[in-house]
Amino acid sequence: ADSARILVASNRGPVSYALLPDGELEAKRGGGGLVSGLSAIGADASTLWVCAALGDGDREAARRAGTGTLETEDTGGQRVRMLDIPADTHAAAYNGIANSVLWFVHHMLYQTPVEPAFGPEFREEWAAYEAYNRAFAQALAAEAGEGAAVLVQDYHLALVPGMLRALRPDLRIAHFTHTPWAPPDYFRLLPDDIAAQLLTGLLGADRLGFLTRRWAGAFADCAQAVLGAERAGASELAYDGRRTAVGVYGLGADAEFLRERAHRTDVDDRLVALREQIGEPDRKTIVRVDRTELSKNIVRGLLAYRQLLLDHPEWAGRVVHIAFAYPSRQDLAVYREYTASVQALADEINEQFGTVGWTPVVLHVEDDFARSLAAYRLADVALVNPIRDGMNLVAKEVPVVSDAGVALVLSREAGAYEELGEDALPVNPYDVSATARALHDALMMPPSERAERSKRLAAAATALPPQRWFLDQLEALGG
Ligand code: G6P
Repeated sequence: ADSARILVASNRGPVSYALLPDGELEAKRGGGGLVSGLSAIGADASTLWVCAALGDGDREAARRAGTGTLETEDTGGQRVRMLDIPADTHAAAYNGIANSVLWFVHHMLYQTPVEPAFGPEFREEWAAYEAYNRAFAQALAAEAGEGAAVLVQDYHLALVPGMLRALRPDLRIAHFTHTPWAPPDYFRLLPDDIAAQLLTGLLGADRLGFLTRRWAGAFADCAQAVLGAERAGASELAYDGRRTAVGVYGLGADAEFLRERAHRTDVDDRLVALREQIGEPDRKTIVRVDRTELSKNIVRGLLAYRQLLLDHPEWAGRVVHIAFAYPSRQDLAVYREYTASVQALADEINEQFGTVGWTPVVLHVEDDFARSLAAYRLADVALVNPIRDGMNLVAKEVPVVSDAGVALVLSREAGAYEELGEDALPVNPYDVSATARALHDALMMPPSERAERSKRLAAAATALPPQRWFLDQLEALGG
């Protein structure tokens, strides 16, 4: 203990364990941009990744490790400490506050005439969120060596920087937000004391990181509006006698990893299987890959595809929409309902337009990374139309992996738009008709233009690979 020089902290760790009926533990690598970026932390004795035990398998793995710190092949030798936070505390913090309240605020997902309604239940969950953040702060304080660099991740852990600074003023503390940040008018839906607590918690850091200028600016606006924090210098906020630097780090795709991974035999096998599902070889494909997440706008994407088939009957039998919608956060009823509505609409479109030998929508819901890569390789068009998204790595990954170049239909509200906007076909995610037109334009794009644009998209998408993204932040922190 207390030897680590570089520590990262996140709710989801690099690995998660399933407890099998025979008592064995099965390791599964964590997904998402956060995990791939943080993997650059490296695997030696001076680094430590602190995360939450997410289920019984993780709790058992932590217990078997004795000290709670795992050093295994499953993590590439990386030292990982899984915090055994009581299941009900974790559930209230993760499902109740992080994924319901904070996720909904930053992605502006509330149906405001009826929600949110902050009452006693919210206050109970908030207390759990505080306890969960405190457990992280205490573990980090116990593990960090004198003057160590601590990189705290995301909305789950917004209170950690302030709590940790109080325990260990010697540490250099950074926090990175992987989501958008809400503008002040929306952020102030939160009860005043909670809004202030979140902001002061974050401002306890030496440095704050965001994925785009837009989200960093919104944070500064909130700090100003709620706390009266002042902008100091080009990129600093002054509050309560301290200064916090605000930086922008646009996490990019890992080209080397993706290109190698996308040409392994399991991906080739999936490619063959997908081509069979598509049917005739000259059919065009519109591909989307998402967690089934309310912000991803999968329903409007399907509506736009239906509109395309109505407006342009000439596409009948000549295009297939490949939609991968992987289950996410299924403890929450709204996510389960959303998943069901995606499924229902896909079925409806297939019933309305399908013929013998042509299935207009191929929907897959079971998570399969190799199949996602196969779809990236064959995509003629990629549809990435979130209502709001911190970055969206799918938009960056498809052009990197694509075999013949891809036309990217991209929401203006995705963080990735700031970097890829010039060579994508931009859409307002709420405008179903405009999205349908963009899909048509994308399908009609001449192959040479498509290849050129796709090349430029891939270059922009890989400008800040995950390792650099991490090391730049570490360097800025003086590590
Ligand atoms: C987003 C968040 C990450 C999170 C990921 C997957 O990208 O910014 O912090 O890990 O979604 O969500 P989950 O709830 O499964 O961890």
